[in-house]
Amino acid sequence: MKKFINLFFLLVTTLFINFSIAKSIDTWENKSANDTVSSFDNHQMTDIEENLYGDNYYIVFANYTLVDASESTHNKRQEKEEKQKEFIYSLMNEINNLIVGNIDTYEDPNTVEEIINNEKLRKRNEQNDEDNIGTVIRLTTLNEISILSAYLSEELIEHVKDMSGVYDCMPNRRFNYGTTYNSNDIKNDTKWKSFKVKKADGHLSLISQGKYDKNLVGKYDTNYYYPESNGKDVDIYIIDSSFNFNQKEFDDTNRTVKCIGVFNEYGNYINNYTEKYCVSPSKYEHGTVVADMAGGINHGVATNANIYGIAVDLKPSFASIMASLNRIKKFYLNNKKGIRRNIFNFSFGYYSYLSTKTSDVVALENVIDDLVNNYNAVFFACAYNDGLPVKDENNNKGMYPCILDNVICVGSTNGMYESDYPITNSMRPEVYMKASFSNYGDGVDIYAPGYVSIPFLYSLNYVLSPPNSYWSGTSFSTPIVAGIAASIMSENPTTQFNKETMFNYLKQTGIKNAIEDIEFNDPSNLFANNGKHIVYSSDDTYNGCGINAGNNKCGNDLCCSYNGYCVDDKNLCKIENGCQSKYGLCNYKY
Ligand SMILES: *[C@@H]1O[C@H](CO)[C@@H](O)[C@H](O)[C@H]1NC(C)=O
Ligand SMILES: *[C@@H]1O[C@H](CO)[C@@H](O)[C@H](O)[C@H]1NC(C)=O
Ligand SMILES: *[C@@H]1O[C@H](CO)[C@@H](O)[C@H](O)[C@H]1NC(C)=O
Ligand SMILES: *[C@@H]1O[C@H](CO)[C@@H](O)[C@H](O)[C@H]1NC(C)=O
Ligand SMILES: *[C@@H]1O[C@H](CO)[C@@H](O)[C@H](O)[C@H]1NC(C)=O
Ligand SMILES: *[C@@H]1O[C@H](CO)[C@@H](O)[C@H](O)[C@H]1NC(C)=O
Ligand SMILES: *[C@@H]1O[C@H](CO)[C@@H](O)[C@H](O)[C@H]1NC(C)=O
Repeated sequence: MKKFINLFFLLVTTLFINFSIAKSIDTWENKSANDTVSSFDNHQMTDIEENLYGDNYYIVFANYTLVDASESTHNKRQEKEEKQKEFIYSLMNEINNLIVGNIDTYEDPNTVEEIINNEKLRKRNEQNDEDNIGTVIRLTTLNEISILSAYLSEELIEHVKDMSGVYDCMPNRRFNYGTTYNSNDIKNDTKWKSFKVKKADGHLSLISQGKYDKNLVGKYDTNYYYPESNGKDVDIYIIDSSFNFNQKEFDDTNRTVKCIGVFNEYGNYINNYTEKYCVSPSKYEHGTVVADMAGGINHGVATNANIYGIAVDLKPSFASIMASLNRIKKFYLNNKKGIRRNIFNFSFGYYSYLSTKTSDVVALENVIDDLVNNYNAVFFACAYNDGLPVKDENNNKGMYPCILDNVICVGSTNGMYESDYPITNSMRPEVYMKASFSNYGDGVDIYAPGYVSIPFLYSLNYVLSPPNSYWSGTSFSTPIVAGIAASIMSENPTTQFNKETMFNYLKQTGIKNAIEDIEFNDPSNLFANNGKHIVYSSDDTYNGCGINAGNNKCGNDLCCSYNGYCVDDKNLCKIENGCQSKYGLCNYKY
């Protein structure tokens, strides 16, 4: 079987050499899976094949040499080509007759009848006419090999295989364009039970791979890799300005995405919203985008998480925040039984004194502590966008609630692209640097991409920026980390997380010292990552080795240095200097 798969791919890559078709078995995709969302893994290879059986289009491989082994001399070549053509057409006719004569073998005879009738009605176009005989299509002929496609019932496969000149008939599987990745490696890397992959925005690809180094990897991999559970049964509460959930981004039925309140600046509950639409006085749908980053279908991190929005003003008042938290506790957390998976994302903050906390800050801290200690809530808040230290000892001020002990404080790095939609692959050199707008310093716990594309898709009623642009701010980094937390919770459904254990997890999965303009080994030098660290190349070219280069091995007697370079270097080739023996030779000649 394996031999034929290789043969198949070999032929295909020869024919479509300009497309970067993935080169390994790992990249076969479930035929029925969505084009952009491939979900498969090596363990399921047999399942995938089984799933592809039944009534379906199959690929038929024929080798003319099997029916005519005579040498093709120069003189006879044309004659032989004619004979080969005849052979192909008679084979196509034979298969077509088999199909038409055995409609009763199909699970769904109507579909095959429809295909047969459509073929009869189809306007013949001279150019391609010869490549269609009834329901059978000739895909290509290369030397002695011809490849056909035909809609078969399972029962007919063996009959086709028995036909003269046919050496295989197999399901019409799908390739993934682009990155070749190894499912087993990813599973070992992430410990995810099963995972999915899709082409995605820069902010999603950045958090699902280790630090990209263009010297090691041919072309940046724009895939987003995520666990299949991806936030299932986790509740994310977002207190933000208006939400409009009537978006494609939330258009799925498997989870709850809804508005649960509107509060005015005095903390009055306003019952003027629907589940899909809640509008605060500012009307600005910042909340929609934040919710999208946390869990939107295409642009979000935790695509299966439940999302609850409470609309407050764009500059929310203390009163509206306290009232919102109270409502969530009273109506949503109190009745929860069993393991709690509640994530709060705060996209707001204000400065207050560091030395003597004002009463409002103390009260907010107490409310948060109650939710953290008694309800296992995990809070994320943005570091805010002033380009200042979150704790400014000199001026005796700090950003609250971000710097509170029970809150995970999120800062921004730069975006992947100037505008990452459509993905241009124009990597910004400063991608792994702190965003200039982001607050920073002691008190920031983790950084995440702070530029997100707004291609949309959105039917926002009130927007501040034009479509096809990007937005930036710690407001968007925060829900990205909240989404990662949701995916961690759903992958560990029996663990009761709290702030401490969640932060420890994020420290483990996050990439230390990835941010180039934050001091090495500074505790805040941590870049958010969802657990998948292998860096793949979307053109399958690797100049390095190990985890930062697709787990590639060094050739030519080279050794794999601690930082992923294939080198021939006396020092770097020593095990004690971190030489990675799994990906190259170490110690061997020195
Ligand atoms: C594939 O994805 C698109 C866009 O998200 C969606 O509209 C479509 O229904 C999906 N198709 C399948 C078969 O899931
Ligand atoms: C493959 O597609 C089938 C049919 O839609 C689906 O039931 C199955 O779960 C898919 N398998 C994988 C591994 O995605
Ligand atoms: C076609 O069949 C002949 C005879 O068995 C064999 O020698 C040749 O390798 C086959 N061609 C391919 C591409 O498999
Ligand atoms: C699995 O990952 C661990 C590190 O988490 C590594 O030491 C080990 O070699 C990996 N195993 C395989 C088979 O790749
Ligand atoms: C919805 O959930 C069910 C059960 O967990 C799952 O089988 C199905 O694939 C999910 N659908 C989507 C669109 O995620
Ligand atoms: C709901 O009430 C808020 C606060 O009074 C107001 O600003 C908003 O426009 C109202 N929303 C709708 C949909 O009427
Ligand atoms: C999440 O937090 C960020 C930063 O604090 C904020 O901008 C955003 O509006 C918040 N989102 C939700 C849903 O609370």
